[in-house]
Amino acid sequence: MSGFGSHFATEAVAGALPEGRNSPQRPPFGLYAEQLSGTAFTAPRAENRRSWLYRLRPSAEHAPFGPYPGTALFAPGAASGPLAPNRLRWDPLDLPDTPTDLIDGMATMVANRHPEDLDGVAVHIYRANRDMERRFFVDADGELLFIPQQGRLVLLTEMGRIDIAPGEIALVPRGVRFRALLPDGEARGYVTENHGSLFRLPELGPIGSNGLANPRDLLAPQAAYEDEDGRFELVQKYLGSLWTTMLDHSPLDVVAWHGNLAPWKYDLAHFNTIGSISFDHPDPSIFTVLTSPSDVPGRANADFVIFPPRWMVAEDTFRPPWFHRNVMSECMGLIKGAYDAKAEGFVPGGLSLHNLMAGHGPDVASWQAASEAELKPHKLDGTLAFMVESCWPFRPTAFALETSALQKDYDNAWGGFPKALIP
Ligand SMILES: [Fe+2]
Repeated sequence: MSGFGSHFATEAVAGALPEGRNSPQRPPFGLYAEQLSGTAFTAPRAENRRSWLYRLRPSAEHAPFGPYPGTALFAPGAASGPLAPNRLRWDPLDLPDTPTDLIDGMATMVANRHPEDLDGVAVHIYRANRDMERRFFVDADGELLFIPQQGRLVLLTEMGRIDIAPGEIALVPRGVRFRALLPDGEARGYVTENHGSLFRLPELGPIGSNGLANPRDLLAPQAAYEDEDGRFELVQKYLGSLWTTMLDHSPLDVVAWHGNLAPWKYDLAHFNTIGSISFDHPDPSIFTVLTSPSDVPGRANADFVIFPPRWMVAEDTFRPPWFHRNVMSECMGLIKGAYDAKAEGFVPGGLSLHNLMAGHGPDVASWQAASEAELKPHKLDGTLAFMVESCWPFRPTAFALETSALQKDYDNAWGGFPKALIP
């Protein structure tokens, strides 16, 4: 179903969706009506998101949760001690060599704030080689934006099925239960976990009424459900810790739903990329796919930004990203190809971190090549990088600082620039 934030209505069985009211005395077939809120009841209408789910059993039916010991690297909290003002970069994390599903394969790399603040964002990397069978996950701490880098993902959610491949993204709202299958046997990618205000499409200002990610290209799934009894595990992330309980049925038992809070997918190839057709390239905010506003106007809790294939035509312009120091903090990943500000060292599956006021920009080789390049129209192709930009500095986890994937020599990217000469 097409359209970001649309008010959808979908039923897997004809007649399952009540008409004209949300909570009839007896919903069709004896289904249980349940509201899932994505915003406070009283959020302004333009912000308000909620859906009504009609299911075989209430989601309230479960035993108490106990601590989940399954994964040490998922949400362990930030490394202790002061946050060093260093630029950091990581090689891709290895795929697991023992059977590992998406949840146990999560490694939190950087995070800011705390889920209890209802603000901030974390970036995790998943590496998995096993389907989630009879196992489900739910995140009470925020919405999950999946960014596959290797291998397809099937996300079976309470509200329907989403299939994504590298180059596509998918979002699972806070509180929506799901499990993940790996059609290619192995998968690796990134997850942005947003504890703050919900991701939405950015304002377009003078760009006008079209452009960047167009609402109709964001697709929500139709209702689909599992009618299965047995023993199923439900792992929940809750205020930064992981918990587990057992269910006697699949929680994917929503037969119909309606509303404007929904999982969705988006093919990044549909992004309408806008850039300079005269000189200078705009701030990278021109590449914003999604934004989660903070309480300060114009200052994002999190922006999800991509650097997709595009034409470079600007005259008398240094075309790669310029040198800069940013009051916002930048965490970048690479889905495929090469990023135009780094000649080497930043490879698909890798990650980099440039926190607030960290000087960064092109490495020496990229600067040299771009300074001498003939400025004819040039297509940057076969590349897809992304950035999670946040007003809150990111703190790496202890794992991120200790893993052998951390590059010890990253600062050398900016060593050896020739000094400018004043005549
Ligand atoms: Fe930057």
